[in-house]
Amino acid sequence: MAIVLRDTPLVRALFTRIRDKEASREQFVTCSDRLVHLLVEEALAHLPTSPLTVATPCGAFDGLALPADHTLCAVSILRAADCMLGVVRAMMPSITVGKVLIQRDEATALPSLLYAKLPPDIAAKAAVLLLDPMLATGGSAVKCIELLVERGVDPAKIVFVNVVCCGEGLEAVAKAFPQVRVVTGAIDPILNESKYIVPGLGDFGDRYFGTD
Ligand code: URA
Repeated sequence: MAIVLRDTPLVRALFTRIRDKEASREQFVTCSDRLVHLLVEEALAHLPTSPLTVATPCGAFDGLALPADHTLCAVSILRAADCMLGVVRAMMPSITVGKVLIQRDEATALPSLLYAKLPPDIAAKAAVLLLDPMLATGGSAVKCIELLVERGVDPAKIVFVNVVCCGEGLEAVAKAFPQVRVVTGAIDPILNESKYIVPGLGDFGDRYFGTD
């Protein structure tokens, strides 16, 4: 299931800035961080809550509590998703963090897993926020979700947080793992022959880290 961030004038303005190839790195980092903040809040809005009554200075308020930070795990698909981790950890300092490196095998063109470090109790987490700013073919995302499921994570507890995706990537994830929810900022129309999203924004990691 894909949940697309509401296209408010603010969201459109932030996207306009990061899609502009003339944006400075400072503008790119600031505006993408702001979008990631909105996306993570949207992802959290889909997690189960529990009733919580608190005392205000003037009375009682029957409210809700989100799962505690340490019961959540953020999994960063290296390298680009590390751009999203700073925002996630500023919002939830006690969240546990896993890192996964997946690269396309030049010979087979298939994604292969090169490195993974995940919390040992990941299967018991209330939810896993899988982070990757660009969902293009979906190969890395599917490979990473396969690993999480092998480690005992229920796919229904995975929320994939993404800045820009395209139909092909969304379909690949939905076909392999229909229970995974995808929270995205935009669904772009196509991939080009180099598997970049069009119009997209280019290479997210390069623009964020200044390696372009
Ligand atoms: N990764 C990127 O950084 N950009 C794309 O368009 C596709 C994958």
